[in-house]
Parts: sequence; structure tokens; C-alpha cells
Amino acid sequence: MLPQSSTGLLAALLLSALPANADGLYTKKSPVLQLTPKTYGSLIANSNHTSIVEFYAPWCGHCQNLKPAYEKAAQNLNGLAKVAAINCDEDENKPFCGQMGVQGFPTLKIIVPSKKPGKPRVEDYQGQRSAKAIVDAVVDRIPNHVKRATDKDLDKWVAQNEDRPKAILFTEKGSTGSLIRALAIDFLGAIDVAQHWSFCPGADAEPKIYEGELKKKPITEFLSQFAAPNPDATGEAAGDSKPKSKSKAKPTKNGKPESREDAVENQEPEVKPTQEPVAAPSIPSLETLEELNSKCLGPKTNTCVLALVADPEKANVLSALSEIAHRHSQRGAQLFPLFDIPSANTGAQSVRTQLGLGDSNPVELLAINSRRGWWRRYETANDLSIAAIEAWFDAVRLGDGAKEKLPEGIVDAPQDKETSDHDEL
Ligand SMILES: *[C@@H]1O[C@H](CO)[C@@H](O)[C@H](O)[C@H]1NC(C)=O
Repeated sequence: MLPQSSTGLLAALLLSALPANADGLYTKKSPVLQLTPKTYGSLIANSNHTSIVEFYAPWCGHCQNLKPAYEKAAQNLNGLAKVAAINCDEDENKPFCGQMGVQGFPTLKIIVPSKKPGKPRVEDYQGQRSAKAIVDAVVDRIPNHVKRATDKDLDKWVAQNEDRPKAILFTEKGSTGSLIRALAIDFLGAIDVAQHWSFCPGADAEPKIYEGELKKKPITEFLSQFAAPNPDATGEAAGDSKPKSKSKAKPTKNGKPESREDAVENQEPEVKPTQEPVAAPSIPSLETLEELNSKCLGPKTNTCVLALVADPEKANVLSALSEIAHRHSQRGAQLFPLFDIPSANTGAQSVRTQLGLGDSNPVELLAINSRRGWWRRYETANDLSIAAIEAWFDAVRLGDGAKEKLPEGIVDAPQDKETSDHDEL
């Protein structure tokens, strides 16, 4: 029995003995995953999923300000990527925060799995500290293991790796959404996932068709009939797509292991000698200012995309654009006209100047709608993959994302007869 007078002292001793992380910014209920150096290894560095990690100190004002946006980002990324935080004020975490190069709080790093397990690519996130900007940056970096199958190579893809079930998403969307990418990661090595233009064609085998909503939980349940998801499968997603596509899983048997490459994005359809080569015609080049004005900067021209690309990247970018245009035309889908603007075209420099782009960026892809007076820049010029560019085209087409107002004087004043009259997509 304690004497009455010592209870106050006892309470004070107990309080100071509580672990310091009781003072961390995020509670147990928070959607933000709380890390220690140990769990960083197992949950983040060894994950097949992309993660974002906040290194913070509970006393830091900017960290406290970030908290609501960060928790919202965690909610929106639930099922798509991991959102975690580590309290660098804790003694046992300090050396780790130091090793990670943390010099101020909060520091946000995006961790992207590489081909080598346990050796992810770590990038500093320096974008805006809003939920949307964080979500966009993370979603952009979700690895894409979804095979983009064309009519030509779908059968071949289905036939390979026979022991593995296959799931095919039939969609009219050109880009590969975050939900399907996250699912492909959850089932990496267990179920091969592809995306195919347009809707479900007649199939020979007995496909199981999923006709539910495009939400992560029910799709995961559906796919789990065929193979269990991986240990670090993420939870339910907020859901990023409209339920307008169907997906179909086709169980198959007996086969050899596939090279992972086959499932990775940007794989050009393989051209076998026995097949007709898939030749993507080059996109037109606008050599003169007059051509540029008439095709893209006329008072009545609709959305067009200009590629201003300096040399080392030129061939790559133009071939990616040709490929995208070609794929669209193969499936009879509309795409805005794409033009290559050689730097010798006097218009090229004036577009850069008038839009305030500067010269530093050797690759500029610009969507311009002169008739409506807006333009947009392809911001992630460090990712020039077909998938990334196509995702941007989708965003432009669907009107997602911010448009800039075209400055006065950039649109060619005189009415031009050659203006294209295609519809707004
Ligand atoms: C990552 O993917 C591989 C298949 O490539 C799988 O075997 C492994 O379990 C996955 N890792 C986790 C942590 O889920």
C-alpha cells in the first residue's frame, strides 16, 4: 500500500516512462503507416509497391501542417500505394533518418521498387504539400506490370506461361489506370495481367468474366479464386475508374516461367519474322512557321500536340508518339493531331519564349487549343515512356488537370483556310 502523498509522484514517473512515440504525430487509427527502421525494410524497401515516407519530428510546425493533407493522401492511395511516416525525433530512429539523408522536417521520399528486390529507387518529393499533388506524384510512380496487348499479340500472351492464370482488362482507355496497376502488383508472379483495347472479343477458352464494379476489393476477391495475392498486397483502393470496362480471367495450366519483362509496360508488340511488321508511320513534321500556324496555332484550331524535342531524345520521343498515334488509328480511335516541330522552325523558339518555357528542357510536349485559348505542358518530361505520355493524352482528352491560358499574340491572327476541323475529343 502506498502512502497517500506518493501517488502524485508515482503518476509523474509513469508518464515519463511512456514511450516517446506516444507523442508521434499520427495515431494508431491514422491511415498513415508508422514505421521504424526495421519495418522500413520489410514494409517499404522490400515491397513490390511504391511508397511515400514522411520523415518528421512531432514538434515541427510544417509537419503538423502537413498532417491533414498527408492523411488524406493516405486515404486516397489506400490499396494503390503505401503512405508511411517515421518519427525522427525518436532516439532509435535518428540514425536511420540520418542514413536516409534527412536534413530537415518534413522530408518526403518516394520509394519505387526496382528490378532488384530490396534495392528500391528513392526520390525526394519536392512537390506541393497538398493531398492531390502527393497522390499524383505517387500514382505516377506505381510500377506498371500490365501487359498492353494488341489484337495481334493477345493470343500469344494468353498462351505463354500456361501455368499462370491470366486476367485481361478490356477497356477503351489508352493509359493503364492506377487500380489495375496496383492489382497487377498484388498478384505479381501469381496472375498475369493485361489490358486490351476495346471490349471483350469472342474467346475460345472459357473465360470467367468479372462484371462487378471496378473497385479493388471485389476484383481482388474475384482474382483470388485463381491465385492468392502476394504477401504485401495493399488493401482496398478508393477506386479510380468508372465501371465501364469488363475484365476477364482465364485460368490456364502447365507452362514455363515467364520473364518478367513480358509483363512490363512499354513493351512494343514483338515483331516476328512471320508476322507483318507493325510499322508506325512517323508523325508529321511542321517545317515552317506558316505550317505551324495553320495546323496548330490558327484562331480556329482545336487541340493539337506539339513535340519540341532537341537531339539526343528526338528519335525516342518521336517514335513513342508515332506508336501512340498508330495504336489509336489501329483501333479506330480519335487522337488529336501530333506534330513534330523541328528546332529550325522559327516558330519553335517563339512558342518556347511566349509560353515562358525556357530552353533548359530538351523535351517539350505541348497540348494547345487555340480556338479555346488554352495550353498544357507535359510536366514529367523525365518519363517519356509510351504509357506516361499516353496517360497525359488521356488526361488532356478528358479535361483532367489544369490548363494554362494562351498568352495574347501566340495565336496566328489572320483567319486560315487550312485550319483543321476535327471535333474536340
Ligand atoms: C513481389 O513479387 C514477387 C513475384 O515477382 C512475389 O513472389 C513476392 O512475394 C512479392 N513480394 C511481396 C512482399 O509481396
